[in-house]
Amino acid sequence: MRVLSGTKPTGDSLHLGNYFGALRQFVSLQDKYDESLYFIADYHSMTTVRDAALRRRYTTNVALDYLAAGLDPERAILFRQSDIPEVCELTWLLTSVTPMGMLERAHAYKAAMDKGENVDHGLFTYPVLMAADILLYHADLVPVGQDQKQHIEMTRDMAQRFNHAYDCEALVIPEPYIMKDAAVVPGTDGQKMSKSYGNTIAMFASEKQIKKAVMGVVTDSKGVDEPKDPSAPIFDLWNLFADAKEREEMAQRAQAGGLGYGDIKKDLLARVLDHFASMRERRAHFEARPDDVEAILRAGAEKARAMAAPVLEGCRLAAGLGVNGLA
Ligand code: ADP
Ligand code: TRP
Repeated sequence: MRVLSGTKPTGDSLHLGNYFGALRQFVSLQDKYDESLYFIADYHSMTTVRDAALRRRYTTNVALDYLAAGLDPERAILFRQSDIPEVCELTWLLTSVTPMGMLERAHAYKAAMDKGENVDHGLFTYPVLMAADILLYHADLVPVGQDQKQHIEMTRDMAQRFNHAYDCEALVIPEPYIMKDAAVVPGTDGQKMSKSYGNTIAMFASEKQIKKAVMGVVTDSKGVDEPKDPSAPIFDLWNLFADAKEREEMAQRAQAGGLGYGDIKKDLLARVLDHFASMRERRAHFEARPDDVEAILRAGAEKARAMAAPVLEGCRLAAGLGVNGLA
């Protein structure tokens, strides 16, 4: 089984939503399956980041976050999407079997249209590039957060359409892998945690910044003695760092009253810092060795390219591109 996933480099450090919704699964899946590929989706970041230096910085940061969280270049292939530009060719091959209506139904595109944003073709085609990412490497399983499930369904659809159009089996139909307990992580304002809402708690921000974010998590104005709603965002966040027994106890204490939000926040802060402490050390280790990080990404790209070449060749042959058999 071949597992593959990617992360868009659009910020300085991944946040708790990225970690609990995706990255944590990447790390645990490394040991479960024989082949894993995790990449940094720098082409995808082009729909929002329009500054070369910034993109490079964000790309390095995702590489550091990957390594810090425990992705291991000995067990997983780590690479930068744009090191394999062949993915753009497969994107083109797929666009020609992708109905407009499918892309018009994509959540991200619809949301941008609803907000009256100036939508460019890159954003519209985003799901096709994502499908190419997955199909180019014959991935069987794609671990992603809930919000990416639609993209995987579209990927399956495109692969089936391509195979059908050219009466071939050049592309493998992948499965989504959504962790059962990968709930949507709320941000400090109670909406879904997302960079675009500015409501994140970053895994590797400074202690001061994390403290500020945690202390700023929205709560109602109930006093210490009043019973609290255990499904409020502050409890959802706290629960991420607690085991089943602790969660149950916390829910009971919340409903009984006598527990102040300030104390919960202090405890949450301690748990966040503790949870990421060893990862933070590992991150600092790699941050001080940029050449090593670059070498890891290059070695990963070489392996990824070796996997991609026969797949793309199979698609070209099936579609009658190039000189048949020699192309
Ligand atoms: P953002 O919304 O901050 O831009 P991305 O869209 O880059 O985050 O998400 C990267 C990965 O992290 C995706 O697989 C996504 O499903 C997951 N993810 C992002 N935010 C959350 C969240 N609040 N809860 C759970 N998973 C999330
Ligand atoms: N679209 C994904 C996100 O926003 C990132 C991504 C790009 C991806 N290509 C992918 C995820 C291929 C899984 C597989 O999070």
